[in-house]
Amino acid sequence: TSPCYQLKSQLCPRQNPQCHMTGEKTGHYSANACLLPICCLYGAAVTTVEGVGSTETRVHPVQERLAKCHGSQCGFCSPGMVMSIYTLLRNYPEPTPEQMIAALAGNLCRCTGYRPILDACKTFCKVSSSDDRNTGLCPLVANSLPLLVFFLFKVSTSLFSIDEFQPLDPTQELIFPPELMRMAENQPKRTLFFHGERMTWISPVSLDELLDLKAAHPKAPLVVGNTGVGPEMKFRGVFHPVVIAPARIPDLNVVKYTEDGLTLGAACSLSVAKDVLTNAISEFPEEKTKVFCAVLKQLRTLGGEQIRNVASLGGNIISRKSTSDLNPVLAASNCVLSLASRGKKRRIPLSDIFAGVGNNTITPEEILVSVHIPHSRKGEYVCAFRQAPRRENALSITNAGMRVLFEEGTDIIKDLSIFYGGAASTTVCAKQTCSALTGRHWNEQTLDEACRLILKEIAVPGSASGEKVDYKKTLIISFFYRFFLEVLQSLKTTDPYHYPGIPVEYGSVLQDFKTKMPQSIQIYQDIEPDQSPQDPVGRPIMHQSGIKHATGEAVYIDDLPSVDGELFLAVVTSSRAHAKIVSIDTSEALKVPGVFDVISAHDVPATNEFYYSDDPEIVFARNKVICVGQIVCAVVADSDVHAKQAAAKVKIEYEVLEPVILTIEEAIKHNSFFEPKRKLEQGNVDQAFETVDNIIEGEIHIGGQEHFYMETQSVLAVPKGEDKEMDVYVSTQHPAVIQEMVAASLGVPANRIMCHVKRVGGAFGGKLLKSGLLASVAAVAAKKTGRAVRFILSRGDDMLITGGRHPFIGKYKVNEKYFNVNLKEVAAVSLLKMDNAYKIPNLRCWAYACKTNLPSNTAFRGFGFPQSALVTETWITEVADKTGLSPEKIREINMYKENEQTHFKQKLDPQNLIRCWNECMEKSAYYSRKKAANEFNKQNYWKKKGIAIVPLKFPFGLGTRYLSQASALVHIYTDGSVLLTHGGIEMGQGIHTKMIQVASRELNIPMSSIHFCETSTTTVPNACASAGSAGTDVNGMAVKDACQTLLKRLQPIINKNPKGTWNEWIKEAFEQSVSLSATGYFRGYNENMDWEKGEGQPFTYFLFGAACSEVEINCLTGDHKNLRTDIVMDIGCSINPAVDIGQIEGAFVQGIGLYTMEELKYSPEGVLYTRGPDQYKIPAVCDIPEQFSVSLLSSSQNPHAIYASKGIGEAGLFLGCSVFFALRDAVTSVRNERGLKTTFVLNSPLTAEQIRASCADDFTEMVTESWGGVCSSVSG
Ligand SMILES: Cc1cc2nc3c(=O)[nH]c(=O)nc-3n(C[C@H](O)[C@H](O)[C@H](O)COP(=O)(O)OP(=O)(O)OC[C@H]3O[C@@H](n4cnc5c(N)ncnc54)[C@H](O)[C@@H]3O)c2cc1C
Ligand code: FES
Repeated sequence: TSPCYQLKSQLCPRQNPQCHMTGEKTGHYSANACLLPICCLYGAAVTTVEGVGSTETRVHPVQERLAKCHGSQCGFCSPGMVMSIYTLLRNYPEPTPEQMIAALAGNLCRCTGYRPILDACKTFCKVSSSDDRNTGLCPLVANSLPLLVFFLFKVSTSLFSIDEFQPLDPTQELIFPPELMRMAENQPKRTLFFHGERMTWISPVSLDELLDLKAAHPKAPLVVGNTGVGPEMKFRGVFHPVVIAPARIPDLNVVKYTEDGLTLGAACSLSVAKDVLTNAISEFPEEKTKVFCAVLKQLRTLGGEQIRNVASLGGNIISRKSTSDLNPVLAASNCVLSLASRGKKRRIPLSDIFAGVGNNTITPEEILVSVHIPHSRKGEYVCAFRQAPRRENALSITNAGMRVLFEEGTDIIKDLSIFYGGAASTTVCAKQTCSALTGRHWNEQTLDEACRLILKEIAVPGSASGEKVDYKKTLIISFFYRFFLEVLQSLKTTDPYHYPGIPVEYGSVLQDFKTKMPQSIQIYQDIEPDQSPQDPVGRPIMHQSGIKHATGEAVYIDDLPSVDGELFLAVVTSSRAHAKIVSIDTSEALKVPGVFDVISAHDVPATNEFYYSDDPEIVFARNKVICVGQIVCAVVADSDVHAKQAAAKVKIEYEVLEPVILTIEEAIKHNSFFEPKRKLEQGNVDQAFETVDNIIEGEIHIGGQEHFYMETQSVLAVPKGEDKEMDVYVSTQHPAVIQEMVAASLGVPANRIMCHVKRVGGAFGGKLLKSGLLASVAAVAAKKTGRAVRFILSRGDDMLITGGRHPFIGKYKVNEKYFNVNLKEVAAVSLLKMDNAYKIPNLRCWAYACKTNLPSNTAFRGFGFPQSALVTETWITEVADKTGLSPEKIREINMYKENEQTHFKQKLDPQNLIRCWNECMEKSAYYSRKKAANEFNKQNYWKKKGIAIVPLKFPFGLGTRYLSQASALVHIYTDGSVLLTHGGIEMGQGIHTKMIQVASRELNIPMSSIHFCETSTTTVPNACASAGSAGTDVNGMAVKDACQTLLKRLQPIINKNPKGTWNEWIKEAFEQSVSLSATGYFRGYNENMDWEKGEGQPFTYFLFGAACSEVEINCLTGDHKNLRTDIVMDIGCSINPAVDIGQIEGAFVQGIGLYTMEELKYSPEGVLYTRGPDQYKIPAVCDIPEQFSVSLLSSSQNPHAIYASKGIGEAGLFLGCSVFFALRDAVTSVRNERGLKTTFVLNSPLTAEQIRASCADDFTEMVTESWGGVCSSVSG
């Protein structure tokens, strides 16, 4: 398999092997290729996605269903999805929906929003009574019933047909290879040694041998799952010359029930531990299993299944990481470790290690053999808690394990243990608190005392940026409170007379949010009954690469076979935000074996700086650097590993320059802006402000967003050896600009550079100009060395080097009567879209783009609209707060209503906006659910629901004609087959599928006769970027034009032989010397904008929509659950409803990420901290709404685009903010109930930390007090 570029499991989807481990019984485990050491696979059979099925042999049902249910868009995550589902099915041929959801918790998809993937999964699940597809109507359908009846003959709710699927037949699966079976049975176990270039891997088979090895190599780590050691070696440069792998030693794999508990070997995987505990819980009486339950609870959300399958219990304990979810609960529960070293064995309670008791250090020679987890006793209660940035597959921010034992028959504390993770550098114990409370009754006074003592005892040191300290402290005592409530409630079951339990309205907080299999429905207008059965337009056609995505046959840049003599490139980037480069020392780097050369600005034959605006885009920094992550030079070597090793050895000396501007605020302070600053105005703002009673002023901060496309930026540059020609294969949205930049860098005409793009593993706006710079880096290296150069960015480098979505600060001043707005933002285009769906008669807005010393931000789905419209929706909500009217009323009052003009005087017919709004209101049953949410909120104190509905007007257009021109090239071969190409890039949005649909309709031939090979500058020159939702619109027109030209040429032949077949006509045409190749062209939309006058027609048409979302929050932790979302979108006549609904759902879930969870963090020096999936959390399966409906507005026509469709790629993202406002609604309800200030600020992303802080209570107050105390004592 090719190397894995991503840091973590879920991001190594393309090489996710499945191991069949030998042993008593063959087991099937999914694992991460990026972390799994090859040496540990001795004796195991590995299946990769290619082994599951292929188009050459047989496509496996999992692969088939994933593709046919439209579960792949860019396809980069699909092999990983297939392997997770396949593994589950090998172990459980008829899994429950819960098992299915758990199996996918460790996989990430950035395109689909998961719904279609889960649809495929559901087809394998046991039919349950709640299964929306198999029995009865799901609540979503039930709610939309009146509409369904109304449109009975017009709408469809099915995007695929289950009848087409081949059945799953477990007897047809691969068997475990008999030779490996025989080897496991017959061969005596012996120590294995594997010697690599720099490392030795030793795998002993007995404990004594292990202890000898450990004595001989005390510094050598024991590697079991490699999930702790692996990332350190890979990403933090830690090197171990010797590694000892103890996984085959029987003593370390024991599972033993004893009188007083359960002993688990240290090498047991977390999955084994989970299964054993699950069994034990079902077999032992409840009283004895409280520790087991608490440990199991943590295991359920620890990592993903791929991690738990390999990560060991011992590894988790011994690493003593602050974020270990197991150590706090195991320590609190009196678990005992069995340690051994040569000639010595001892047992120590785990708690001693963290509580600083006795002989509590584990020596380097000692190894952990096993862990004893005790039974709980009568009168003993154990709980474990965690709060993470994402509910599943994310390291905890803070976690806890707590245990209390009461004097028999009383609520008097006999023994109390409280341990926390995430607070300090390792697990910590609130030892003094526990001893102070011993002997006390379990009541409110004890609670109060406990919280104060805990806050005093548990120090939470601030991180470099000082963040999260308050939140962690709040969690620490909130967890204790939750424990307090759990125990009170449990006491009630023992003696309801003495212990009345907790108030009913507190009860719900004892239930954690769980991920359920979502129910979903998609509604779209069916094709007209008289449409030809062969005509694919308007039908939910599968992505033309869907099956290849799922079988792993789809080729991405790094799958391209290696070229003879190929070199690998790794970049050296700036570690300073603004500095002069004093010197670059490459001497050590050049000594690394396999290194070929170091490339820098001096090697660029021609252009190193590209002036697309006043400030250049730079290939290699020349004399100074202007941000951390700027490319200074690059190393080329014979392997990726050697190139990276050498890059780490390049030494750069800097002289820091002033100023260093890292934030918008600092840019404002230094007057550091890009020109021109933009302004739009309508009405008379000054006069309006003079005549109103109330003025609202506010500010909202909106964080940036990382594209997190699954395929990182990738280039392969291949010099062709003559006439300075070069082939460049790039993962880009814009081949023409790659060609232009590479040619300019090399100083050759563009006709020598051939840029090829087969497909792109996700882009979302992030693969435009930046890809051009990276291609130039590779091309310059290829030119200098005369060799092919492969340059694949690691996830960390990709995040560091390429800028994402622009962060915003929106400042507004509004009077509640006229909505006059004074808005300061960074992107000019956002001004044009800032009105969202509202008529604002008096408006003045400015946009300032700030110049900072961070990597330049770039296009990202929505391009400024998601930010500026959020500002608008924020002040709308504030007006509602101020007036006492509901937000939806304010929205309705101010929405565009009839034929109107925008604030830049473009005509607008908002009829479909109103229709979407009304339909969404109706489909979501907004008012009745709002009432129900209010009722819920009255009955629940610590949990609250919130609901919000948000409209959408998304203008389509690129502002000027030339940016939307497009070309296509269609060849018909003499066998009748058609080769189609156009200037659009396939990045998951299904453009090639749609273009084939267009060609199929125009030429009146089946889609199967038409093939798309690649987008290339050799076939379609000067193509515009695939961006701005315009791909299908403009390329569709060009394809249609080309096809019509061909058909016109064929028409005389068809007329002469109307009953003939396509092949006969083509043969005849060839014989008549009729050209069978044609280009098609579309001039582009007539769009313009006069910024001087502040008016124009920058857009061609508008998309409309509305989304209603409902959430539930946990006020104690800030956690939330997305309960339900209903979306209604007007996208004209959909060319492919499956693709379009996929775009809406995928964008919506990306919007949830933007507005509620994705947080970029920088050091005070401008270094991006969040450089991988472990620090930066994008939505996972657990984040999608439990009920999710998308309806396409019926009977909508768009005269401006191909087949009356509308470009849909971007618009849906903004609707993610309905979740933001639903969360705000829930927070408002908390604040109203508690009499807190009604005006409050919530910034984006609205994380758990902000939610918790906004739900102020005694605990947050205690933290503020204690924090104030700490501060004053520090300053004093
Ligand atoms: C993507 C990802 C997500 C994760 N999510 C979570 C999470 O949510 N919660 C959480 O708690 N953890 C999480 N982890 C951490 C993970 O649980 C631990 O890394 C894992 O349990 C360590 O086990 P291992 O077998 O992989 O350790 P290895 O990497 O093989 O070893 C880790 C260390 O333990 C030592 N060691 C291992 N076994 C022994 C032994 N028997 N005696 C002495 N020393 C030993 C080794 O010497 C080494 O120093 C996550 C990790 C990853 C990669
Ligand atoms: S289809 Fe899942 S990441 Fe693109």
